[in-house]
Amino acid sequence: MIKIVKGDITSYKGEAIVNAANRYLEPGSGVCGAIFSSAGYDKLYKACKALGEQEVGSATLTSGFNLAKYIIHAVGPRCDIDPNPEQLLKEVYINCFNVCKINNIKTIAFPSISTGIYRFPLDKACPIALQEMIKASNQMDEIVVYCFDDITYNTYIKTLEKFKR
Ligand code: AR6
Repeated sequence: MIKIVKGDITSYKGEAIVNAANRYLEPGSGVCGAIFSSAGYDKLYKACKALGEQEVGSATLTSGFNLAKYIIHAVGPRCDIDPNPEQLLKEVYINCFNVCKINNIKTIAFPSISTGIYRFPLDKACPIALQEMIKASNQMDEIVVYCFDDITYNTYIKTLEKFKR
């Protein structure tokens, strides 16, 4: 089941929370900053550093420490510099669900990956995200998208309605 909610992803009570990460899995601002603060900055920083540099489009698992059972660090594309950002965005969602499969994760929360600081246009990112969520929905008990602002929330709601028709 796919749910679209408005709010802060750190309030999610399921098994895994997806972080909109950078390639170095370093603390940043946006949703990444909120996740590091809630999980416990030092513990998450150490776990991320141990994993080292990641590729754009990848998804990597750490403990969720104080926040959740798991955090999945999803490296979305930067629209201004990464070639073929649409394909990379699709891959990042596919890789998140692969991590779920391998680790038997059934409940997950996503932010709108890449549509903040990485400037991926929301109207293009949203259908890519939802298509991959719909494809993976039979392997999951719950997929929740946390939208932080009205524009993101309304775009996800409208696009999901279109896909359901
Ligand atoms: N809960 C849910 N969504 C949030 C929250 C929150 N607490 N805070 C922000 N958002 P962004 P990106 C929304 O910029 O574009 C970081 O520095 C936000 O409004 O967090 O993938 C990383 O370290 C937007 O809709 O992620 C990377 O360097 C969405 O989350 C870089 O930013 C994604 O915005 C990643 O940029």
